[in-house]
Amino acid sequence: MSVDLKGRSFLTLMDYTPDEIRYLIRLAAELKAEKKAGIRKKRLEGKNIVLLFEKTSTRTRCAFEVAAMDEGAGVTYLDSKSSQMGKKESLPDTARVLGRFFDGIEYRGYSQSVVEELAKYSGVPVFNGLTDTDHPTQALADVLTMTESISKPLEKCRLVFCGDTRNNIAYCLMYICAKLGIHYVGCGPRELAPAEEVVRRCAEAAKESGAVIEHISDPYEAVKGADALYTDIWASMGEEELIPRRVKLLTPYRVTAKLFEAAGNPECIFLHCLPSFHDFETVMAAEQMKLGYDIREVENEVFFSPRSKVFDEAENRLHTIKAVLVALLGDEK
Ligand code: CP
Ligand code: NVA
Repeated sequence: MSVDLKGRSFLTLMDYTPDEIRYLIRLAAELKAEKKAGIRKKRLEGKNIVLLFEKTSTRTRCAFEVAAMDEGAGVTYLDSKSSQMGKKESLPDTARVLGRFFDGIEYRGYSQSVVEELAKYSGVPVFNGLTDTDHPTQALADVLTMTESISKPLEKCRLVFCGDTRNNIAYCLMYICAKLGIHYVGCGPRELAPAEEVVRRCAEAAKESGAVIEHISDPYEAVKGADALYTDIWASMGEEELIPRRVKLLTPYRVTAKLFEAAGNPECIFLHCLPSFHDFETVMAAEQMKLGYDIREVENEVFFSPRSKVFDEAENRLHTIKAVLVALLGDEK
């Protein structure tokens, strides 16, 4: 079946069919091979995109910029301090104006309703670069990494996410697993259980794909038989004041060497969206430790183990974001 995504927005994977998601992952693998072979096709020549960031970023911003530039597009970056958005100009007006200048808009910020409004009023494709409840380009990179590092088909894989199971990363992983038939196990305390509505929508998608979407609170029970063990920071951007409570709740879910071993699968890979607290070398981890809070969600022994694919996964942000831009905005070449 041929897939045509031209002119669509990319707000959440729940808007995409399993075939469309598989198409984007395949295209990303092709674009990655092309880049490694030194082939440049400039499928976005003459196009311009704007990147709106209300939260900080290293990977997502750089991936959008390099992907766009590799394919010949122009890029403008705006953060909340250097634009009028939300302060002197409403979101709909901002969207209307940006839609006149640009062929596509990337947004990173807080509410999912902002990407929806940008898409509604701009008239051009909008790309979700992370909201409080979703991070769809991240999930594409994660699954591309799984296909590269795990020999089994995705439908036979068990992906265990340990930590804050109601954050943006947990949700986008649940979505992609539900769509592609991957067994997702969310592992965290009840207090951080995913919203019922999210679980219901995933269960619906899972009926079609054959995925299993489940939650297990006991980390040693959850990781048994994992093909991929995934974690994320315990307090997401904007939640820093919750650190004391989160450390209390999530310390039993830290990915230690012992927990990783308990998967009982020597082929199990470790994944993390990054940035990660895996030592005390960052300002935040060191400051929190001085206050008595060990915020490491993973031990160095796992983070730097041969089974850790976190830097392949980070690189794959570039190739998957490029696939999204090319598929939704690009010209055939
Ligand atoms: N994983 C991810 O989105 O990284 P950044 O916050 O650096 O963009
Ligand atoms: N849950 C993290 C993901 C960062 C890529 C956050 O929102 O800060």
